[in-house]
Formats: sequence, structure tokens, C-alpha cells
Amino acid sequence: MDGWVKKDQVDIWEASAFSFIDSVEPCDNKGMEKDFQFFQFCSEGLLILGTSVRSIKKWGKMPPGPTPLPFIGNILQLRPNDVLNSFRKLNRKYGPVYMVYFGTQPVLILNGYDVVKEALVDNADVFGERGRFPGLLKAFSNNGIITTNGERWKQLRRFALTTMRNFGMGKRSIEERIQEEAQFLVKEMKKTKGSFFDPTFYLSRSTSNVISSIVFGNRFEYEDKEFLTLLKLLNQFAKLFDSPLSQEKQNNTSIFNDDNLVMSTLNLFFAGTETTSTTLRYGFLILMKYPEIAEKVMQEIDHVIGQNRAPSVEDRSKMPYTDAVIHEIQRFADIVPMNVPHAVAQDTEFQGYIIPKGTMVFPMLTTVLKDPQWFKNPYSFDPGNFMDENGAFKKNDAFMPFSAGKRICLGEGLARMELFLFFTTILQNFTLKTTKNPKDIDISSGLSSGNSPRSYQLCVQPRY
Ligand code: HEM
Repeated sequence: MDGWVKKDQVDIWEASAFSFIDSVEPCDNKGMEKDFQFFQFCSEGLLILGTSVRSIKKWGKMPPGPTPLPFIGNILQLRPNDVLNSFRKLNRKYGPVYMVYFGTQPVLILNGYDVVKEALVDNADVFGERGRFPGLLKAFSNNGIITTNGERWKQLRRFALTTMRNFGMGKRSIEERIQEEAQFLVKEMKKTKGSFFDPTFYLSRSTSNVISSIVFGNRFEYEDKEFLTLLKLLNQFAKLFDSPLSQEKQNNTSIFNDDNLVMSTLNLFFAGTETTSTTLRYGFLILMKYPEIAEKVMQEIDHVIGQNRAPSVEDRSKMPYTDAVIHEIQRFADIVPMNVPHAVAQDTEFQGYIIPKGTMVFPMLTTVLKDPQWFKNPYSFDPGNFMDENGAFKKNDAFMPFSAGKRICLGEGLARMELFLFFTTILQNFTLKTTKNPKDIDISSGLSSGNSPRSYQLCVQPRY
């Protein structure tokens, strides 16, 4: 922060700016816009004097971007109800690397495969810090894997990966747990007896049970009251368990104190439940819109697995079409479009611009997954994006739903295993039905800042 503003001052400005962001409604009022233009005109000089010029003088060329207002930065350009589209507009105007201000905090926005890869992979150490984002800090404080940095993060991440590996991630026992959970899901879905139901809760109970069996050693019955409370009140989750994970008791000088272990477990729960179940929910909606694609997946299942045994991860390499469909579901669903914020670990030069240490960074995954240089019709659903002309599975470097580099999703292996086993087990057992004409199913995202399918009713018909 040397040469910028004092940290305390930044914190106060940040807090007031974010409370202002929370209170701002998008404004379509022309008169007010004029007032703001005038306000902007008057305040530009002040702001330039206050921050930009100082930083330009000290650091050199800063990335382009919209002119920020004092204290509130660019919140007028970043409509809270339509954040993704606001970023897309700025991307068209300023190019792949630009800067916006959240309050007084400069935020670097990276767009498209080339620059995101150059930052996260080619300059992994510089861009591998976690950004201090108020929402994340509020949820997890400074404990756990997602929000921490430095030695604390390194040790917690290594610990979590090793523990999951010891429990069998990538090995057979986790696969068996998922297979078992998928059968419970089939049993539960059979109870619906051809009626329509909202799949949200069915899927989130299944995916959180997979994490439960890894971190607690057991799954929960679907109707278990404690489990239901757990799912509804994840933020009070820490109270429901304590000692099993503590190797060391309250020792604040140790990384492995209660708070960190509880938060790391919570991290796995939060990061691993919603993400995987949202992808499944999105996937089933997409398959209802394209019954011919679902039909081809079912044919491949019948051919490779048959009806007499559960799908296993080993089957994936023999099922290129299904593999391509699942990749395309993840690409299209794009459920973490803005990524989780990163920060720059040291002053650095990037793409000809100077980026000061501590700058928050959004490596926009949506612009990678929908990069027209890598995907022919990025906004259409097309499993052909992951198939070659001979029908074999084809990798694509811009497939980055789990991000890339040092902070790449810790649960990638687990999530990919879950997606394959849940999709194939459900389609082995059921045909998906909808009340709508498939053409009328809307598969665009139902949210503005994160991606999630619109709510829908599903009906499953046993195949055998
Ligand atoms: C389809 C499912 C999932 C998707 C799309 C997904 C996506 C992501 C993304 C985009 C990040 C941020 C990476 C970055 O900062 O560059 C992330 C981080 C993380 N994910 Fe996942 N995730 C999924 C499932 C899971 C599962 C099942 C787990 C639990 C085992 C998990 C645990 C984590 C953790 C702990 C982090 C923080 C890593 C760190 O800061 O070092 N995720 N995930």
C-alpha cells in the first residue's frame, strides 16, 4: 500500500463503499443519471488527484477502465442486479485486461483464455493469493482453506488433500461411497412414482452426503432431522461437531487449531455441496431440453455398462460421448462465472501494465468457458466441443470450470467422479420427463452474478 493510502483508511472506505453498494438499486432514471454525470464531472479531478495520478506516477501505466468516483468507485457501472453483464460490457469496451474500483479498492478483471492462463498458470506465484473479499471473509473469517494465504493456506490445503487421499479420493473407497449414495438417490427418486418434483433438495442431500462420508466418516439418512438442519443452517454448522478433527486443541499459534479445522471442513461442505448439486441440476434440465442427447447417453450406458451393475469410474474412458456431454454441461452451466477472487502477491508487470501488490483480481472463468477462440458457438450447448471427427473424446485447454494454477479447486477429482457416477446412475435407471415442449425449456442462467438453472419440475420414469 506504500504510496497509495493507509490501510486503515482503505478499510473504512471499503466498508462504507460496500454498505453503499448493498443499498444501491439499479437506476434507469434519466434525470438522476444526468445528476450523476455532473457529480462525476466535478469529482473526477479530485479522484485523479487522490489516487490515480499518484499511482500512475509511482507505478507507471495502469490498465484501462471506467473512471471511478470518489469513495464509491465504479459501482454505478457495475449494476448489483446485473453484475455479469456489466463486466461483459466493460470487457467489450476496454479489452481483456481492465481495472474497476469497488469503492476505493482497485480490482483487476481478466478476460479470455489467453490472459487468464497467463496469470493463473504462467505467473502462478504472483496471481495465486486469495483476494480479501468482504462476503468471503464474513462467511469464513480468516480461517480455513478458501480465505487464507501464505504458510497457513499451504499447510491447510496440503492437510485437506492428504486427508481426503487417505480416505480414498482417487481410490476405490470414495468411489464406493458415491456409488452407494447414487443408489440411495435412485431409491428416493423411485418413491416419487412418476409425479413431478423439484430436484434441488434431492441432489443437494446426495452431494452433501458424499462430503459427510468423507469428513465425518458417515452419511445421513435423507429424513434425518440433524441432516436437514445442517443443510438449512450451514452457517451454524460449526456447533454440530467438534473433537473428531482436532489433533491439537485451542492453540492459537498452531495452524491446526479448532477454528481452522472447523472452517476447513465447512469450506469443503460449502464448496463441495452446492457446486456439484447445481451442476447436476443444470445438467438434468439441459438433458430434458435435448432428449436426443439424453437418448445417446442412455444408449452408451446400455452398451458399456448394461443394467446389471453400477457404473464405475473405469467406464468413463470407454464412454466418450457421455464424457463429452458432462464436460459440455460444466462448460455451458459455467456455475462460478467470476471465479473466487485472487490477489496479486507482489508488484508486477502484466500485459504491459503495472499491477500493484495487493490488487484484487477476478480471473473471469465465464470468459474462458465461453471464449470464441476455443469454442465454435460458445453460447450454444454442443457436446461436439469435446469430440473429434471420429467420435473420440477431445480435450480442450479452455475447459476451466475448476479454475487453474495454485488455487485450482481442491475438490476437482471428487467432483468429476461424482458428476460421472450420478449422471450415469440416474440415466441407467430413469428416463427424464417434462411437462413442457423441450423447445420451450429455458436453459439460460437464472441468476445475475453466479450461474444457476431456473427452477423446474422433474419427473423420472423407471426404464426397467
Ligand atoms: C462442480 C463442482 C465444483 C466446481 C465447479 C468448483 C469450482 C471451484 C472454483 C472455481 C474454485 C476457485 C479456484 C480459484 O480460486 O482459482 C474452487 C475452489 C475450491 N473448491 Fe471447488 N468446485 C467444485 C467442487 C468442489 C468440491 C466437491 C470440493 C470439496 C471437496 C471443493 C472444494 C474447494 C476448495 C476447498 C476450494 C478453495 C481452494 C483454495 O483456495 O486453495 N470444490 N472450486
